[in-house]
Amino acid sequence: MRNFIDVSINGVRQKIQGIDAFRTLSDFLRYEQGATGTKVVCAEGDCGACTVLTKSGTEENFKSINSCIAFMWQLDGQEVVTVEGLKKNDELHPAQLAMIQCQGTQCGYCTPGFICSMAQLAQDSKNENVVIDSKRAKNYLTGNLCRCTGYDSIIEASTKMDLTSLPDLNSAIVFDSASVELEFDRQKIYLPQTLSEARTYLREVPKIVSGATDLGVLHNKGRWSPQVMMSLKNIPELAHITRSATHITIGATATLEQCSRELESDFPEFSRLLRIFASPQIKNSATLVGNMMNASPIADSIPFLKSADARIHLLSPTGERVVDINEFFLEGYKKMDLKPQEIVTHISLPLNGLSFKLYKVSKRKDLDISAVTLAIGFEKKGDQLLRFQLSLGGVAASVLRLKTLESQMLNRALAEKDFIHLFNEIDPLITPQSDVRGSSDYRRLLVRNLLLKFFHEVEGAL
Ligand SMILES: Cc1cc2nc3c(=O)[nH]c(=O)nc-3n(C[C@H](O)[C@H](O)[C@H](O)COP(=O)(O)OP(=O)(O)OC[C@H]3O[C@@H](n4cnc5c(N)ncnc54)[C@H](O)[C@@H]3O)c2cc1C
Ligand code: FES
Ligand code: FES
Repeated sequence: MRNFIDVSINGVRQKIQGIDAFRTLSDFLRYEQGATGTKVVCAEGDCGACTVLTKSGTEENFKSINSCIAFMWQLDGQEVVTVEGLKKNDELHPAQLAMIQCQGTQCGYCTPGFICSMAQLAQDSKNENVVIDSKRAKNYLTGNLCRCTGYDSIIEASTKMDLTSLPDLNSAIVFDSASVELEFDRQKIYLPQTLSEARTYLREVPKIVSGATDLGVLHNKGRWSPQVMMSLKNIPELAHITRSATHITIGATATLEQCSRELESDFPEFSRLLRIFASPQIKNSATLVGNMMNASPIADSIPFLKSADARIHLLSPTGERVVDINEFFLEGYKKMDLKPQEIVTHISLPLNGLSFKLYKVSKRKDLDISAVTLAIGFEKKGDQLLRFQLSLGGVAASVLRLKTLESQMLNRALAEKDFIHLFNEIDPLITPQSDVRGSSDYRRLLVRNLLLKFFHEVEGAL
């Protein structure tokens, strides 16, 4: 058992204890390390000024994350590279050189964050042997904002990086693999190595922290003060997505980026939806289980999980149970069938031949919160639907699965009037709110139009 965090920052191995282990990574870098290249602007994962690169001792590639919402203890067993660490042997990194050559910076406040995202773009493009065009550059830079230079020169710099001279950022450190128990003041964090160890800690009812992309924002806004916490990130079996003949099983610490990549062949529509979910930095940290357990009525994954009849695998000090997601979420805002000492270990998705159409409507395409979401799982034969499983988000206190209305769409020739009729039946059941993302009437109209969109897309495919 260790009582310190084992982490490498720009190749220097450090043992972190006390208050420092509970700080955010950006605060630690800036105030303890003097690594002030990393900037903080929004402190809520939205602007990318605080972007750094991380990778665990067992991973091959670095990935970008937002250091403003990452806690130091989350970096246990990880290598961190900041903008200061990209330069090797006095040679600037190709991302830095290209930024200078293309005049991609003015005030410079956003630049270190852009450079770190560009360094991941360069690494992945070299590994995958892919030429960087402006579309690929934009996808990697979705999570970085610049207020003064304008994006043209930054995108040009991204496409002009010399991929033949990328420095090796690995430090080849072998980290200590023991479990961690850390305490400071009233705060405690447990980082167990096995599920049976995790189970013993559940009696203390720790708050489970996964990617902290929800909890880190709440912390920075002063709306959550951590006390007893547990992270499952050091339990190897929970980090994977596995496939059997009948199911896909997603571990509690599998990230959204992993889901987007590894679910592509079985659930291409979900993988596509994840491409417009948040930014690369968020998806490199955030987990699917964390998105589900945040239980927001506008969480982008829940409508899909409900329409797919996902099953939730729960662990408590007294045993395990598996619950159908449609029984797990109860009526009301963030209400779940979750006991105080229970945690989620896995989500499983049946492989039963359903196809999916998933819709997210938001004010901006990228990095925006949904106004309304719609997920339909379906099977069709000829011009008829044999199965039809409908979930709606953003129109009530929780995501709705409308099982009672589903059967009326089955085994009849698809017709537009049936979808209009379906909307007329849904309309009195939903209670959308008016807020900055849209009025109640607008949300109702979206539901109607998305149902018609589904009809035209499916009819078009016939
Ligand atoms: C800039 C930004 C953009 C975002 N964009 C989107 C978006 O486009 N769509 C969207 O839906 N969301 C979005 N989010 C919200 C957030 O990123 C997601 O909800 C994310 O999936 C949360 O996962 P996490 O691992 O970071 O969860 P955490 O923050 O670690 O935890 C979230 C909740 O889940 C609980 N929890 C986590 N793991 C477990 C477990 N194993 N057992 C029991 N409880 C658990 C935690 O206790 C906590 O209550 C965004 C957030 C930010 C900051
Ligand atoms: S400071 Fe804006 S994302 Fe971290
Ligand atoms: S260079 Fe000033 S914010 Fe980007």
